[in-house]
Amino acid sequence: MLAVRDTLRHNGQVTDYSERPTWYVNAAAREFRTEPAPVEVLDFHRRLPGYEVTALRESPGLADSLGVGRVFVKEEARRFGLPAFKMVGASWAIHKALAERTEDPDFDWTFEDLAERFGGPGGLKLVCATDGNHGRAVAHTAKLLDLAAHVFVPAEIGQRAKEGILSEGAELTEVNAPYDDVVIQATAAADSDPDAMMVQDTAWEGYERIPGWIVEGYSTIFRELDSQLAEAGLEGPDVVVTPCGVGSLIQATAAHYRGNDRDPTAVKPSLLSVEPVEAACLLESLKANRPVAVQTGRTRMAGLNCGKVSTIAWPVLHGGIDAAVSITEDQDLAAVEELEVLGIDSGPCGAASLAGLETAFADPAVREVMGVTARSVVVLLSTESREANPVEG
Ligand SMILES: Cc1ncc(COP(=O)(O)O)c(C=O)c1O
Repeated sequence: MLAVRDTLRHNGQVTDYSERPTWYVNAAAREFRTEPAPVEVLDFHRRLPGYEVTALRESPGLADSLGVGRVFVKEEARRFGLPAFKMVGASWAIHKALAERTEDPDFDWTFEDLAERFGGPGGLKLVCATDGNHGRAVAHTAKLLDLAAHVFVPAEIGQRAKEGILSEGAELTEVNAPYDDVVIQATAAADSDPDAMMVQDTAWEGYERIPGWIVEGYSTIFRELDSQLAEAGLEGPDVVVTPCGVGSLIQATAAHYRGNDRDPTAVKPSLLSVEPVEAACLLESLKANRPVAVQTGRTRMAGLNCGKVSTIAWPVLHGGIDAAVSITEDQDLAAVEELEVLGIDSGPCGAASLAGLETAFADPAVREVMGVTARSVVVLLSTESREANPVEG
């Protein structure tokens, strides 16, 4: 690893990063194997109202500027009518968790069946903490199932995100604390209510099943991507870039491309994680070789503003991620604007992928470890629309 000389603002103070590398690489990651998601997830989503495949957009201009063969952006700007990818996780996990409460957990329960059993006045209440997008997805799923929802948010998240959650009919509680403390508060509220079920997109010791199902739900994005790349005449990507908050989404990326069901002769893409400098918990953990919590700061990448990696994600990311970088607010803003010029609808978390790739590729050593050539096929996951989290200044 190389140390990159830099000084950056952190919590309003200037921090000297000169001794700390701002990126990490693992040359053995492509040989790592893990458990893939069950195959039935995509069919489950296809049967839900409002399902549509999200767009895969190609940019020859980005391919030229990045010095690779082809660049695609998986544009998760509208999923089940919401402006981010999160519904694929929340809907599958809530469906699994409700099925578990029936006498036949393996039966293929429809949302209508589950609404009849668990919905209505005096029924179950879904509780979660969120930086915006997950909470809206939980609230939307609750609405589809005629359940109540109570969503806890850090008070500092954008007004648009709060309005989105309220528009689904959920109760909203604003907490004057960072995301990780909001999770603790929401958990306490759920624990003290016998009719509540906590639906969190991050795991900790003793709370792993629902976050595990959320990660499984994200597999739909990659199953769609497989078909879309095949339609473009490609075997698969060589590089996949994922924005990282608690690490559940990139855990799903790794589960797909490092799954032990994969054909051993198939292309093994290299996987890059991107986080804001203000909340680089995965990068710091990978560098420390153990999970470490970081104190988070302020970032417009609200969904990535997390101080701790999900416990079930950590072993997968530790073994299976080729490279991790952190990006500044300015780099992120430039990427939002670059994608907008290309006609791609990408909010601050979504555009982090492009900013991170540009940062990683600026260093020939990272390119080399990632096995990048002038023919490489790159996929950037763009996880939210600008509408989810409008850029303010
Ligand atoms: C838009 C967006 N992108 C990426 C992420 C990161 O996902 P994860 O927290 O699973 O790493 C989030 C999480 O909330 C998000 O809202």
